[in-house]
Amino acid sequence: MALTTALVTGASSGIGYEISKVLAQEGHDLVLVARREERLQQLAQYLEKDFNIEVTVLAADLAQISEIDRIFDTLMERNIPVDILVNNAGLGSLGPFTADDRNTEVEQIQVNVIATTYMTKKFAVYMVKRGLGKILNIASLSGFTPWPYMAVYGATKAYIIEFSEALRAELKGTGVSVTVSCPGPTSSEFHQVSGTDHLGLLRYIPVTGSAQMAKASIRAMHKRKGVVVHGAMSLGYYWLARLLPRGFMLRLMKILLKPRWSGF
Ligand SMILES: NC(=O)c1ccc[n+]([C@@H]2O[C@H](COP(=O)([O-])OP(=O)(O)OC[C@H]3O[C@@H](n4cnc5c(N)ncnc54)[C@H](OP(=O)(O)O)[C@@H]3O)[C@@H](O)[C@H]2O)c1
Repeated sequence: MALTTALVTGASSGIGYEISKVLAQEGHDLVLVARREERLQQLAQYLEKDFNIEVTVLAADLAQISEIDRIFDTLMERNIPVDILVNNAGLGSLGPFTADDRNTEVEQIQVNVIATTYMTKKFAVYMVKRGLGKILNIASLSGFTPWPYMAVYGATKAYIIEFSEALRAELKGTGVSVTVSCPGPTSSEFHQVSGTDHLGLLRYIPVTGSAQMAKASIRAMHKRKGVVVHGAMSLGYYWLARLLPRGFMLRLMKILLKPRWSGF
């Protein structure tokens, strides 16, 4: 019998895909959310067969807040209680803010900030009433200092870190914990989607596998930790960001993230 039900957003690829596998291995039933339904269905078939769990696929565009109401109402109607919520879906973009008038930044705010907040609101209210639950939010190292050329992405992740820490303190004693995992560079489709695959920097620093990041994040969630940073390089960055003057970090990140390829 499954232990509990976990909802994972952004389960169609990368870290979310691997988090779904880890939770399935632990015996949790799953609710998988992302836009690419075919990928979710394939993952669901594989997990149900290999781990003898029940998987519900709910394809949704989390940039639309009404889709979150639909997810919540569907689960309520089907009497599927969510005990673990993983807000992992996210996107970013690398490049000068004023380079074009495409609107990807607004979508980043919709998915990274609004969807994370609204999903948490819907499910945390319900978890607190039941007196149990675990929430895992996926932020990023970019949330610890401003990142020029990824200004909106970094700001959305700073929001997730502060929101998670504050909510964690607020919910202490309710049986509901909030953990925020802050990955450094991790292999996934994120880099093609955001354009960071053009960054020469990524050739010189260690990139963590999605599976490894998923395991570390889930481990931290089960231990009900607060803010977690994984690996020596990321921890080094975290401490630099905390100890060095903000102006210095800004100049450093501007140099490191400046796009040097054609197209801008
Ligand atoms: N990879 C890294 O280096 C890195 C570093 C730090 C933090 N992170 C964070 O880790 C999280 C997972 O990213 P990843 O690295 O695994 O990248 P990824 O492979 O690109 O996965 C992103 C996931 O988010 C989903 N998603 C994006 N927009 C969505 C929308 N509008 N509605 C629903 N789902 C949406 C995608 O699914 P669909 O396209 O099917 O909708 C996909 O499943 C993100 O929050 C990212 O910011 C990644």
